[in-house]
Amino acid sequence: MADIVIREMREEDIRAVSLLEAENFSHPWRYEDFLDAYTKPHYLYYVADKDGEIVAVAGLIISFDEAEVVNVSVSARHRREGIAGKLLTGLFEAGRERGVKEYVLEVRSGNAAAKALYEKAGFVKAGVSPGFYRDPKEDAFLYRLKG
Ligand SMILES: CC(C)(COP(=O)(O)OP(=O)(O)OC[C@H]1O[C@@H](n2cnc3c(N)ncnc32)[C@H](O)[C@@H]1OP(=O)(O)O)[C@@H](O)C(=O)NCCC(=O)NCCS
Repeated sequence: MADIVIREMREEDIRAVSLLEAENFSHPWRYEDFLDAYTKPHYLYYVADKDGEIVAVAGLIISFDEAEVVNVSVSARHRREGIAGKLLTGLFEAGRERGVKEYVLEVRSGNAAAKALYEKAGFVKAGVSPGFYRDPKEDAFLYRLKG
């Protein structure tokens, strides 16, 4: 079985990344959204590359010493293999090099898998935004982690 390589996203990965996003979210970022983010220095994306196939993605939007974790998404065929955990570890190492001291994120209140992932990574629930998400309408839980 091919090894999974965690590495920074390249421009040629963006098509696959946007397809992955479309599989996983009701309001997905499009190709152009990722391309736009890719060109901005305060966005940082990592992918999981399995023998040339992009099977997962996760990003950071960095603002001074705080970063928001965004677009965390793993192919349905490769869940529970530890890939999202490895992506977060990679992003935290890169964030540390850039001086990030605190991470925040939003997650659907009913997304048990994602909440378990973030809690395992050390995130702590810091608040609720009632009705934040649509399709379906759902509360957002806000999570925070000191880097
Ligand atoms: C949430 C998601 C990113 C997790 O990715 P993953 O690669 O399967 O997660 P990992 O294998 O790294 O799991 C790490 C830990 O998270 C928790 N976890 C992950 N999936 C879980 C599930 N379905 N049920 C319970 N716990 C889960 C476990 O604690 C797991 O550790 P363990 O396997 O040692 O028990 C993936 O399910 C996904 O892409 N979902 C659809 C998109 C999404 O919801 N993204 C998050 C938006 S905020």
